[in-house]
Amino acid sequence: MKLISTSNYQELSQQAAKEIISRINHNPSLNLGLATGSTPTGLYQELIRDHKQKQTSYKGINTFNLDEYIGIPKKDRNSYHYFMCEHLFEHIDIPLDQTHIPDGTAKNLDVECMRYEQFISEHGGIDLQILGIGQNGHIGFNEPGTPFDSRTHIIDLAESTRKANSRFFESVEDVPKQAITMGIASIMDSKEIFLLVSGASKAKALARLLTGEVSEQFPASVLQKHENVTIFADKEATALL
Ligand code: GLP
Repeated sequence: MKLISTSNYQELSQQAAKEIISRINHNPSLNLGLATGSTPTGLYQELIRDHKQKQTSYKGINTFNLDEYIGIPKKDRNSYHYFMCEHLFEHIDIPLDQTHIPDGTAKNLDVECMRYEQFISEHGGIDLQILGIGQNGHIGFNEPGTPFDSRTHIIDLAESTRKANSRFFESVEDVPKQAITMGIASIMDSKEIFLLVSGASKAKALARLLTGEVSEQFPASVLQKHENVTIFADKEATALL
């Protein structure tokens, strides 16, 4: 794993954006895996700024999001569909039918998980996956204990995750109890991975990822086994290294 440490969050966002833009210039039909959460929003702003200033085009790009809450309609402001439109898709030239996110309102959620997994492989797999990390080491919504050989599946969210994400909702009771997430094996199939880690609240998780053992109890540790991972971390996140 390659670690790029930056002096602050803005620099982290800029550096990650620069690398993504160079991948897009190199391959205008890149399959780009996307993440939600607070961490990648600065990166998305940088991509939007570049699109407006330098006209980098997303017309040939397909995006695949990691996860979606179960039971939240796409148009609800708390859905990851809404989040992605608001933070990225509606500000760039990507055709919306080339943006893919699991459907957390599908009638048959097991079928939806299989469909999404198959859909990604029919598109040739993900070239570059953007990841954040939860304080408990989750990637996507793969909580501690998720098998490393898991594919897209339904997950019960950890109470700590629901609490952490309650800042986006009116109260913790409103945070869904389940989500659909790409599995660990789905994520590991990506040809390249960028992990973004920002802030003091992630310092312990980053230290454990870099120096701890590979264990299903700390999902992100699986990245030690991937051949092409770059970690972008700001000063606060690297404080314990
Ligand atoms: C969320 C998302 C993850 C994200 C993580 C960290 O629950 N499902 O994909 O990486 O939690 O979020 P944040 O960047 O807001 O700390």
